[in-house]
Amino acid sequence: MSDTAAPLGLVAALKRELRDLLAAMPDARLRTIGGREFWHGTLEGHEVVAVQSRVGKVAAAATTAALISHYRVGAVVLTGIAGGLAPGVAVGDVVVSAELLQHDLDGSPFFPRWEVPLTGVSRFPADAVLAERAAAAARAALADPLALFGEALVQEFSLHAPTVHTGLIVSGDRFVRTREDRDTLCAALPDALAVEMEGAAVAQVCHEWGLPFVAIRAISDRADEAAHGDFSRFLSAVCAHYGAAVVRRLLAEMPRTLRAPA
Ligand code: ADE
Repeated sequence: MSDTAAPLGLVAALKRELRDLLAAMPDARLRTIGGREFWHGTLEGHEVVAVQSRVGKVAAAATTAALISHYRVGAVVLTGIAGGLAPGVAVGDVVVSAELLQHDLDGSPFFPRWEVPLTGVSRFPADAVLAERAAAAARAALADPLALFGEALVQEFSLHAPTVHTGLIVSGDRFVRTREDRDTLCAALPDALAVEMEGAAVAQVCHEWGLPFVAIRAISDRADEAAHGDFSRFLSAVCAHYGAAVVRRLLAEMPRTLRAPA
């Protein structure tokens, strides 16, 4: 690690997931690199580079590599939404990553199922300190759902008492939208809390660069037959509030001591 202070990288797959965060960075400079728009500005007193990765593991990995090599960020936070897998993970809850795994990766018989070939790693650990800070920020941000979302959204999405979970997030290049598909995933990976399409790819790139990483996901659906409609409603009505409230709280309470990658 060098001694130069470094910005924080903020990644989301969809523009909607970043909307309220970008609104809070009105002076950010916009630059397009590799087909991605990077906003370089200040948020809660931190130098931040925010970028929309687009959807899926390849898009997320390519974006993260560009973010790290062009902006020399000192840590990466992924924000957005996910499908709930474990029984207690409900729409409106937040899942913070402790570990991330690519559920659709299988190089067997040459490598164990889920292991990223030639790395020896199946589960990429999130940074423990960042994860703890992110969970604390999420709990604080969600302490008063009525103030955060307003009465109408609390009623519509049953956001009366969202829970914050920390654990395994699994990622793959498909939207999980049947109970059968979800149950198969849960049977194979019983400790998986949530499923999405980018986190483990961002985690892998950060791991390879030796950078702290955490994913913070609001649960938009239960990865079942209702997932398509639930996802769309949550995306358009609620998710930007989560990203802004939780990430801003995390930054507000984080020391400004990030170091650029070596
Ligand atoms: N992101 C949000 N919901 C999802 C789901 N059901 N499957 C994959 N990614 C998701």
